[in-house]
Amino acid sequence: MSKTREHSVGQGPAKRDSFTSSLGMLAATLGSAVGLGNIWKFPSMTGTNGGATFLFVYLACTIAVGLPVMISEIMLGRTVKANAITTLRKLSPRRQPWGLVGVSGVVAAFLILCFYTEVAGWVFAYIIKGISGSVLTTDPEVASAAFGKLISDPIQSLGWQWGVIALVSFIITFGVSKGIEKVTTRLMPILFCLLIIIGIRSLTLPGASEGLEFLFAPDLSKISGTVVLMAMGLAFFKLSIGMGTMMTYGSYFRDNQNIPMTATKVMLADLTVSMLAGIAIFPAVFAYGFDVSAGPSLLFVTIPAVFASMPFGQLFAVIFFLLAAIASTGAMLSLFEVPVAYLCEAKQMSRKGAVLTTALGIAILGAPAALSHSLTADVTVFGKTFFDLFDYLSSNLFMPAGGLCICIFTGWVFGKEKIKTQLSNRHTLSNEGIVKLFTVLVKYVSPILVALVMLNMLKVF
Ligand code: PHE
Repeated sequence: MSKTREHSVGQGPAKRDSFTSSLGMLAATLGSAVGLGNIWKFPSMTGTNGGATFLFVYLACTIAVGLPVMISEIMLGRTVKANAITTLRKLSPRRQPWGLVGVSGVVAAFLILCFYTEVAGWVFAYIIKGISGSVLTTDPEVASAAFGKLISDPIQSLGWQWGVIALVSFIITFGVSKGIEKVTTRLMPILFCLLIIIGIRSLTLPGASEGLEFLFAPDLSKISGTVVLMAMGLAFFKLSIGMGTMMTYGSYFRDNQNIPMTATKVMLADLTVSMLAGIAIFPAVFAYGFDVSAGPSLLFVTIPAVFASMPFGQLFAVIFFLLAAIASTGAMLSLFEVPVAYLCEAKQMSRKGAVLTTALGIAILGAPAALSHSLTADVTVFGKTFFDLFDYLSSNLFMPAGGLCICIFTGWVFGKEKIKTQLSNRHTLSNEGIVKLFTVLVKYVSPILVALVMLNMLKVF
């Protein structure tokens, strides 16, 4: 088995598809990071967890843990130029089971896709419903009923989910450079423009300042163990780390790409998008007197009601859901690529076969999640519906645990010398200070922080 596998992964860029330009690498990586995490999770979690305080903890987690894990993953992926499982297996000393971290990454990608494709399906549905005007009403009760009708209809739920799976599968069969890179390079600039338009609209509403205050004035007394766990989970989810996505994308990076610089740019741009989403949403929610702590339904109930209250609201609502759809597409492409790369390289499947297998797997496993508000609504595991369970397990268990293992692996197994060689592009970049800082973070600071948060979650202290 390993003969063919090594043959297929060790050939370098001549045989393996990869990103073709610096801009493409940046757009694809940013396309993975920016997604429903920014537009759906970030605002709803910030809204329910006290606004600026949550934002503050989230920022700290992103810098102290998120960035080092992202750099580690891209670096490990580029070193081996293979999917996440093969990368970790090849870099492991004999008999050490680090490949399992890659396996847990593939499982996490499936778990995320199961609920993510459903939320993306709602977003696509809202573009159409926004155009027809059927979900635009200033009455939150009516908006809530319209959303309830969509998610409690099994046919619509499955139909939209499968539609989204088909769209992403179609793009991804074209490969890394002609599929992922081409699409994300075009979509990312559109996303930024649309977000700025909505942000300006929201900021120019009378009464917008209260929303800004909610977003930017922290009350540190509100920090609790749960807030930190949720903020850390969101930081992992947002940066697409701890589950092999960045490792897989890193394997398509060119050897002369400056990894710490690219990862920092992606982190900053991703934060900017989250801020812009916050600026687009909170001032408007406050200006029209809606509830900021509506949770996950903020995007589908509160936001349409907010748009319906403003002049030209229908147009802005359609733009808003269009941008959410664009963002979710880039993220789903990167999630798909984790199992697809593995199946192509380690199981010698054709790209089409690998995409089809992945798509079928998600359609089958994702169905219980998609039906969580209808047919499977009464089925709960640990008190959670399938939808909530997949969401909770991926963000609060798989990704932080995967991130912790990746830090330990990078800092203690891969080691200082290889880190230095890789991050300086074989000593062609003079970034010694950055490399030293990264090494300290990845060896000590990040793993200790993640371990503390996870022990707290397991109620050890
Ligand atoms: N970062 C994506 C988002 O914010 C979600 C994602 C998680 C993508 C994990 C890839 C891997 O929506």
